[in-house]
Amino acid sequence: MNPLPEKIVCIGAGYVGGPTMAVIAERCPAVGVTVLDHDAGRIAAWNSDRLPVFEPGLAEIVGRARGRNLWFVEQRAGLAALAEADVIFISVQTPTKTEGEGAGKASDLRYVEACARFIAEHARGHTIVVEKSTMPVRAAERIQQVLAANATGATFTVLSNPEFLAEGTAIRDLLQPDRVLIGGEDAAAVGSLRSLYATWVPPERILTTGLWSAELSKLAANAFLAQRVSSINSLSALCERTGAEIGEVAAVVGTDSRIGPKFLKASVGFGGSCFRKDLLSLVYLCEHHGLPEVAAYWQQVVDLNEWQKRRVAAEVAAAAKNRRVAVLGLAFKKDTNDFRESAALQVVRSLLRSGCEVVAYDPRVEGARFASELGDATGFTVAASARQALAGVGAVAVLTEWEEFATLPWASVGVAAGATVFDGRGIVDRAAVRQAGLGLRVIGSPAG
Ligand code: NAD
Ligand code: UGA
Repeated sequence: MNPLPEKIVCIGAGYVGGPTMAVIAERCPAVGVTVLDHDAGRIAAWNSDRLPVFEPGLAEIVGRARGRNLWFVEQRAGLAALAEADVIFISVQTPTKTEGEGAGKASDLRYVEACARFIAEHARGHTIVVEKSTMPVRAAERIQQVLAANATGATFTVLSNPEFLAEGTAIRDLLQPDRVLIGGEDAAAVGSLRSLYATWVPPERILTTGLWSAELSKLAANAFLAQRVSSINSLSALCERTGAEIGEVAAVVGTDSRIGPKFLKASVGFGGSCFRKDLLSLVYLCEHHGLPEVAAYWQQVVDLNEWQKRRVAAEVAAAAKNRRVAVLGLAFKKDTNDFRESAALQVVRSLLRSGCEVVAYDPRVEGARFASELGDATGFTVAASARQALAGVGAVAVLTEWEEFATLPWASVGVAAGATVFDGRGIVDRAAVRQAGLGLRVIGSPAG
């Protein structure tokens, strides 16, 4: 068994870096964990009672480790930690490129490359650099080049250790992962990283592969998950036209042990910061490597998702006779305050464009931040409760599966007579909606 690294640093205190390092610190009290970010506001929030990321169980874990062996530090004040680190994780964003070669599809590695330059300048001795961010296959080659070109005497081994946590269940996923993946060719470095996870993860769940396989496996896993959602969503439309019920179809299909029941929930479309960008990254890689048929296959998973969001928005707009719509749920899924690439962004924009007024409610998303992301937010307001959002509206769109939306007392919430409830998640109490005399449309269920 390799010895535990004594000191680790993570660059990037976001949705992945923050929770992942908090769990490592909590599980490994002997390891010093410093999380750096150049966003001073984010670091201040991690050091406060109002953490920048909402995740069930996160505050308790941070509370136990922060100040003991877990520190959140503004980047420039973290140079000593960087110099002393045995292992440095890179956990910064890898969004879709907006300009240059591959714009609109390829991953933008500028944040990763900035980290590599920074590490090269400040690391000392031999350091293991770990790709925690999701990278295109062979990105490690680029990181190695940047490290080598900028190093001042230090040496490096690059490993790939992609993260599989899902938001909303991040702490559970980190404490009991299906698997931890470590890719790399340097056995000592792989062993060192393995020893860290082996503190709490059963050995058979720590998988090791080559560097390129680890990088591609992460993209592949997200692509397969997104493909399941697009598959069920494609059938949701067919159900609506034929009288079949998507929940029943999914339940039957999912009992096949070769298919399994998870990720078969029809929805208004997948959101989140990763599925779309990782699929597009895969599409770009396929095109780049001369595989247009493979690229087209994965592109269709994205296109179907865009179509699903468009068709829901059009249907809600058509149902809103008085042009006032309540949107319940802005987060891309329940139990998170994250609304990056949320279906709600596209549906709200489309409703506003079609001349509707939109009043929205979400228990965790800050309405002002959502409004600023919309661009033109004319006609968009935020309510403090579901009840307040629903007052007098002609249509309701339930876009996130927050539990409180499943138990709304529809007869007494004050929506306009004849209003239609559009359930984009299949969670509302259908009997209560009907008893209240309201119209009801559920994704994947025939009308009526
Ligand atoms: P994020 O935007 O929440 O966090 C990234 C952080 O990195 C930000 O706080 C930013 O200020 C900081 N940063 C960027 N460049 C920096 C630099 N040069 N120096 C210091 N700090 C810098 O992103 P995230 O959601 O945590 O995702 C990070 C990576 O993890 C992405 O590659 C993503 O694909 C992957 N991932 C995300 C999830 C998820 O659920 N969000 C899950 C698995 C993998
Ligand atoms: C996803 C993966 O599940 C993680 O393993 C991965 O680490 C992460 O992406 C990442 O790389 O960022 P996340 O996006 O946080 O995690 O959340 P998911 O639970 O995968 O949901 C993604 C979207 O699909 C959500 O909008 C969700 O509502 C939607 N979804 C999911 C459905 O519409 N139906 C389903 O059956 C499942």
